[in-house]
Amino acid sequence: MTLHSRQAYLRLLVAATVTLAFAFANAQTVTTFAVPTSVLTSTAISVDPSLLSISIEFFAFPGYTELSGTTMCLANIQTLRGAAPAVRIGGTTQDRASYDASLSAAVNYTIAVPGDAPESLTYGPSFFSLANELPGDVTIGLNRQLNNISNTQDAAEQAVKGVRGLLALELGNEPEFYAAGSPIIPPGEGWSPTTDAASQKGWFSSISSSVGNIFQAAVYLQYPTWSTTGLIPLLGDAITFVKTFSGHSYPQSACGGAATNLETLMSHSGIVSYTKQYSTEANSAHARGKRYFLGETNSATCGGGGISPTFGAGLWVMDYVLQGALAGVDRLYFHQGTIGNCAYCFWGEDSVLAPYYGAFFVSDFLGSSPKTRLTMIDSGDSSIGAYAVFSGSSGPPARVLLYNSEYFSGLGIRSVVNITLTDLGSDLEIVSVKRMTAPNATSLAGAGVTIGGGGTFSDECAATGTQALEVISASGGMAEVSLHASEAVIVYLSI
Ligand SMILES: *[C@@H]1O[C@H](CO)[C@@H](O)[C@H](O)[C@H]1NC(C)=O
Ligand SMILES: *[C@@H]1O[C@H](CO)[C@@H](O)[C@H](O)[C@H]1NC(C)=O
Ligand SMILES: *[C@@H]1O[C@H](CO)[C@@H](O)[C@H](O)[C@H]1NC(C)=O
Ligand SMILES: *[C@@H]1O[C@H](CO)[C@@H](O)[C@H](O)[C@H]1NC(C)=O
Repeated sequence: MTLHSRQAYLRLLVAATVTLAFAFANAQTVTTFAVPTSVLTSTAISVDPSLLSISIEFFAFPGYTELSGTTMCLANIQTLRGAAPAVRIGGTTQDRASYDASLSAAVNYTIAVPGDAPESLTYGPSFFSLANELPGDVTIGLNRQLNNISNTQDAAEQAVKGVRGLLALELGNEPEFYAAGSPIIPPGEGWSPTTDAASQKGWFSSISSSVGNIFQAAVYLQYPTWSTTGLIPLLGDAITFVKTFSGHSYPQSACGGAATNLETLMSHSGIVSYTKQYSTEANSAHARGKRYFLGETNSATCGGGGISPTFGAGLWVMDYVLQGALAGVDRLYFHQGTIGNCAYCFWGEDSVLAPYYGAFFVSDFLGSSPKTRLTMIDSGDSSIGAYAVFSGSSGPPARVLLYNSEYFSGLGIRSVVNITLTDLGSDLEIVSVKRMTAPNATSLAGAGVTIGGGGTFSDECAATGTQALEVISASGGMAEVSLHASEAVIVYLSI
């Protein structure tokens, strides 16, 4: 237990004791947040309409286009945000794929066991026709690892010709992990940040001759180490070829039997400190006029260690998106892996998973204004997250989001915090509250995870049931909202 959490625990004990002395039922604490009265007096940042975006594993992309979840889960977010989520198609298997202009199928591969990813694959022009159907920006990850630049150039040319929404092309995925013996690694030579940067630069310069300056650069997982001292300075003037920068991010790993921890994942103060590491990279990209994305992200690698499909992971998605934006990340692309074998996916063959609830809820909070501005109103060092959004570049806040990240496993008493919002309009008489909750942090979709009391999603990702609002009275510019551990609410300030 850290000093901070010990103090929090003691505070909770004191609060519980006081509460019991007055014969109330649950452990309770009280917190107050002043809501900024105007965007002009706040430090609110503007938010990309596609802040919450999607990454789809390269070989699985054609399969995803056949799932109703792919259409409807994305359409729901588009309705809430007023813009389609961007899609990045890529991942480990982009570096195993060869383009075959004569292949009539979108992809061709064989796998030994269902749920595996192929060791090699080919893809044809119809792969790009499918990508052309996507409603928003599309980024496609092509192969560098196999060191066949003419094959990748052919694919790049077809992508530019065939994909209307094409935003950028990646050349290689997480190249720091290219195995010794990869064709791209010169025989007898090592692979380092410097050699990779030289390789990216050479490939950009060569392939740009027929497709233009359209590359998504970096694409490292162990970003920022490689890129602050590596790629960006080493590119020099070749940064002209770069359209966007991407780093990958997984806060936890279940690889090689490593332990995962849901309480740590969903901790608000933990999310605040984790996302801060990306502000250096975001600032370096922005200083050069480029956008910076977490181009592939999700909760935990290698199967998710059991925590990834839970409601707690949904709460993590919600808070992580907001903190990512505040750290300067323009978009976060949540990775969807092998269909039928993907713990952290938002949707599967015929199901919608708990992380999607967080994606939906945070999109509802951010809203559909193209001028959405976001600010954090808590201190970032407790278990309570609090944010306000504004719908434009002037005027009062439209909504507040409150997150009680205290972990509730299902055992013992579920603690409650009563949060008082102050500085609301003095003539405000009521606020409406939409609550996202579940029996506990480990709950799965279909086992009591709800938005607004009765709102869930059908297997096809249609919003079903009623997302009801709780009406809470306000007076003197104040309103009090009660939140259980492992729960979040949106407070709508205007009726
Ligand atoms: C598809 O790939 C298999 C190997 O996995 C190969 O035998 C077959 O010829 C390929 N089909 C086409 C149409 O290229
Ligand atoms: C590179 O790709 C081209 C097709 O674009 C193919 O003809 C050639 O055999 C490939 N080279 C190697 C070394 O695999
Ligand atoms: C958590 O909630 C689920 C229902 O969503 C329930 O099945 C499970 O038993 C609960 N866990 C505990 C420890 O009570
Ligand atoms: C917290 O809020 C609940 C519900 O509004 C109320 O019943 C309870 O008395 C409040 N507790 C405290 C300590 O203010």
